Amino acid sequence: MKALITGGSSGIGLEMARYLSEFGYDLYLVAREKNDLLKVKKELKTEVSIYPYDLSILDNCYKLYGELKDEKIDIVINNAGYGIFGDYKSNNLDKELNMIDLNVKCLHILTKLFVNNKSTKYIMNVASSAGLMRGGPLMSGYYGSKSYVCSYSLALYEELRRNNDRIHISVLCPGPVDTNFNKRANVKFNIKSLSAKYVAKYAIDKMFKNKLLIIPGFSVRLGVIFSRIIPTKLLLRITYRIQERKR
Ligand SMILES: NC(=O)c1ccc[n+]([C@@H]2O[C@H](COP(=O)([O-])OP(=O)(O)OC[C@H]3O[C@@H](n4cnc5c(N)ncnc54)[C@H](OP(=O)(O)O)[C@@H]3O)[C@@H](O)[C@H]2O)c1
Repeated sequence: MKALITGGSSGIGLEMARYLSEFGYDLYLVAREKNDLLKVKKELKTEVSIYPYDLSILDNCYKLYGELKDEKIDIVINNAGYGIFGDYKSNNLDKELNMIDLNVKCLHILTKLFVNNKSTKYIMNVASSAGLMRGGPLMSGYYGSKSYVCSYSLALYEELRRNNDRIHISVLCPGPVDTNFNKRANVKFNIKSLSAKYVAKYAIDKMFKNKLLIIPGFSVRLGVIFSRIIPTKLLLRITYRIQERKR
């Protein structure tokens, strides 16, 4: 049994690696920092192969697939991603495009390549509850990127289902989780976060039960339902207020 996890050296990805290793999975972990990956390799009991690649460089996504396509990987978890906080005027365009390359294009490329690989049984794409909202002022590019992940993954699920395909797609949409995400986005959460360990275990358990949309935490699920029923302009105002308090 084998699983690939992008962003497997920290936060949600690291906890997924730990959990799957307990099940006996050999792991293929990707992140930019080699030393962090080596620490995980040392810690885990099952076999861990490490790939210190920057996946926002899209050639590295193809290179990664080239190296892994014959490895008979059962589970692919597209988890690497990050957010940028700030208003539309001050956010740096190159940084925003880099985020889109990682959160959207890399995820699209790896999903596309692994969905056509005979060994793949599960693909889990890590989006966010942000992806289920109708826009996130002050994190506009990030919310947009995660909306893409949700929309793309849900559509693919239905196509695969109609083809009686053996692959199951899940999309994970957590709310705030205690990881390095905030540090990189330079924000502070003003609402209670879930632990990465809880989110990882919840997500993997649901994935094995072939759940499509996975939303850990009762209050986050309530928030998503609430966001569906209120008018768009009101929702945007509320989201702005919530985001503003993250400064
Ligand atoms: N934390 C939250 O509140 C939250 C909520 C909803 C969704 N999410 C999503 O959950 C996913 C995991 O984030 P996290 O919260 O666990 O954050 P994290 O602790 O910062 O972990 C991110 C992981 O991705 C790797 N990574 C980042 N940039 C990369 C790149 N260019 N190429 C390859 N690997 C890269 C990081 O390693 P290196 O830095 O060494 O590359 C690290 O292993 C993300 O997609 C995020 O959007 C997080």
